[in-house]
Amino acid sequence: MAPSVARASARQESPDPTYRLHRVLTSSDAESGRKARHTYGRRKGHPLTASQVQRLDVMMPHLRPDLSGPAPAPLTNVFGPGIRDVWLEIGFGGGEHLAWQAAHNPDVGMIGAEPFLNGQASLASHIEDGGLANVRLYDDGVQDLLAWLPPASIGRAFILFPDPWPKKRHIKRRIVSPKTLVALARVMVPGAELRVATDIGEYVRTTMLAIHNSPDFIWPAMGPAEWCERPADWPPTRYEAKAVTAGRKCHYFRFLRR
Ligand SMILES: C[S@@+](CC[C@H](N)C(=O)[O-])C[C@H]1O[C@@H](n2cnc3c(N)ncnc32)[C@H](O)[C@@H]1O
Repeated sequence: MAPSVARASARQESPDPTYRLHRVLTSSDAESGRKARHTYGRRKGHPLTASQVQRLDVMMPHLRPDLSGPAPAPLTNVFGPGIRDVWLEIGFGGGEHLAWQAAHNPDVGMIGAEPFLNGQASLASHIEDGGLANVRLYDDGVQDLLAWLPPASIGRAFILFPDPWPKKRHIKRRIVSPKTLVALARVMVPGAELRVATDIGEYVRTTMLAIHNSPDFIWPAMGPAEWCERPADWPPTRYEAKAVTAGRKCHYFRFLRR
C-alpha cells in the first residue's frame, strides 16, 4: 500500500491485530533471550510516541515481507510493476540512507532489515514523508530474511557501520563474518556490489579478512581514494555523522560478488 493510502487508512482503520501480536511476540522473545542467536543489540530505545505506534501499526502489515511462504519469483514481485532490481540494507538504523536510495532509485525495490524498533519507526516516517512506495521493512535480524530470499535475487547490498562489538569475547557477534558472506553470496546476483562502511580499525581488519577468505567476493579497489571517500551515490548515515564528530575516520568499501 502506498504511504498516502496508509496515512488515509490510519485515520479509518483500527490497528492491525496481527502486527500488534507480532510485535509483542518479538519483544518478549528478545526479553527472554530466545532471539539472541540472531540479534545481540538493543531492540528498543526510548518509548515511541502514540503517532509512531499508530504509523507502524498501519504500515507494517504492508511493509513486512511475508516469510511464511516461499519468496515470489521474481523477487521484484514483492513490490509490483516498474521495479527492475531489489537492493538490501542490513541494519539501516534511522533509515536515512535507505530512504535516500529509495527516493533516488524509484525503479529499485529496497528491503531493509532492522530489529531496533525506534529505527523501524524512523524509517516508517521517512517512507511516509517521502511517499516512498518502493520500500519494504523486515523488522528483525536479517538472518531469516537472508534464508528466505531466492538465489541471485539481490542486485546490491549495504552493511553500513555495523555494531562494532569491540570486546574480544563478542567478536563472533559481528555481522560481517564468513557466515554472513556465504548467505549474501547465495542471494546476490553475480557482479552485484556489497557496500560496507565502518569507522572502527579493528572492524576494517575483520572485514578484510572475511573478504580475503571468501571465494565469492572480490575487492577491486585500485587506491586509497576508493575507500577513504564516500561516493556521491552513498549518502551519510546518522551513525557516521556521530563518528565524524568524534574524530573517527570512516572507511567505505565496495566489494563485488564474483
Ligand atoms: C551502529 S548501528 C548503524 C545504523 C546505520 N546503518 C547507520 O549507519 O546509522 C548498527 C545497526 O545494525 C542493527 N543490527 C544489529 N544486528 C542486526 C541484524 N542481525 N540484522 C539487521 N540489523 C542488525 C542494529 O539494530 C543497529 O541499528
